[in-house]
Amino acid sequence: MSHKFCVAPMIDVTNRHCRFFFRKFSKHSRLYTEMIVADAITYGDKDFLLDFDSIEHPVALQLAGSDPTALASAAVLGEEYGYDEINLNIGCPSKRVQAGNFGACLMADPHLVARCVEKIQEKVKIPVTIKCRIGIDEYNPDEMLPEFVETLIQAGVSTFIIHARKAMLDGLDPKQNREIPPLDYDIVRMIKRRWPYLNIILNGGLLNPYSAKNEISASKGVELDGAMIGRAVLENPYSIIDVDKLFYDDGRAMPSRFKIAEEMISYLEICVQKGVPINIITQNMLGLFHGCRGAKLWRSYLSHQAPRRRDDPKVLSEAINQVLEIQNEAA
Ligand SMILES: Cc1cc2nc3c(=O)[nH]c(=O)nc-3n(C[C@H](O)[C@H](O)[C@H](O)COP(=O)(O)O)c2cc1C
Repeated sequence: MSHKFCVAPMIDVTNRHCRFFFRKFSKHSRLYTEMIVADAITYGDKDFLLDFDSIEHPVALQLAGSDPTALASAAVLGEEYGYDEINLNIGCPSKRVQAGNFGACLMADPHLVARCVEKIQEKVKIPVTIKCRIGIDEYNPDEMLPEFVETLIQAGVSTFIIHARKAMLDGLDPKQNREIPPLDYDIVRMIKRRWPYLNIILNGGLLNPYSAKNEISASKGVELDGAMIGRAVLENPYSIIDVDKLFYDDGRAMPSRFKIAEEMISYLEICVQKGVPINIITQNMLGLFHGCRGAKLWRSYLSHQAPRRRDDPKVLSEAINQVLEIQNEAA
């Protein structure tokens, strides 16, 4: 199970269409679903929540919850649908999530998390991993994180994705909780140093695959096992085009931005036939031309046209032509 490079779970972003699109840039990166509450899977529309395209592998299902039985039932369904990993969200700070007693607040109750993991592991064969923070609120991360990790090791967890900042559960909203508490990569390294056999993945504030690779390298004191990036991939998806070469020694030729955009046309056509509005797909493609001539036009064309012409995949080819035109003019 390789986590050398992962694209972070992001609610309202990393749905199956977004993951399909991200897969075009890297064959090997590990992709994550949005956080899904366990009961939503058990009682809700399973195909809508869990179905995915086989090209998305390796892909992990991220669950939220704190009831061991409910989580285990959802995990069983995840395994049946073909997910490669069950990841437990112990990092979300939102008020709604706290009210349900899941997400980051569970860092204060590692024994409950351990019971959840044990119950899931009893029911599924795929690996169960944890995504957590370095601590919460007034707790000292130097104490909280090792205690949390140690308890979870005893429950059988060997992969921890650590968002290297505290979550402040009172007073900061989720967005502020991704920006205000300072990053502390060293504490993540401390965990790896103490338990070298664990699979430790660094997350938080990494700007691109090159700086991520540098940050997890041995030159920083200890070598971490992987990096996870969220916002920077959304802003500039093409930035992960070198991931396969950089992290997985796969140096095959990679497609251009235009090639990827063109490949998405047939995907849009298929989705429209299934009743999926095109803007659900194009909303996560807005960053494709980030940093290139025509980026602004691409972004504004798609954001204006796609919500208005929700069943018309031609919007995408028109946007491609507009960018091509503007780039040809400049050449
Ligand atoms: C829009 C958005 C939605 C997010 N949703 C989730 C989520 O569903 N589950 C989760 O574990 N983290 C979620 N996160 C946090 C990210 O997974 C990640 O830990 C955080 O953004 C830090 O990484 P970054 O600095 O590379 O973005 C979300 C972040 C963003 C920006």
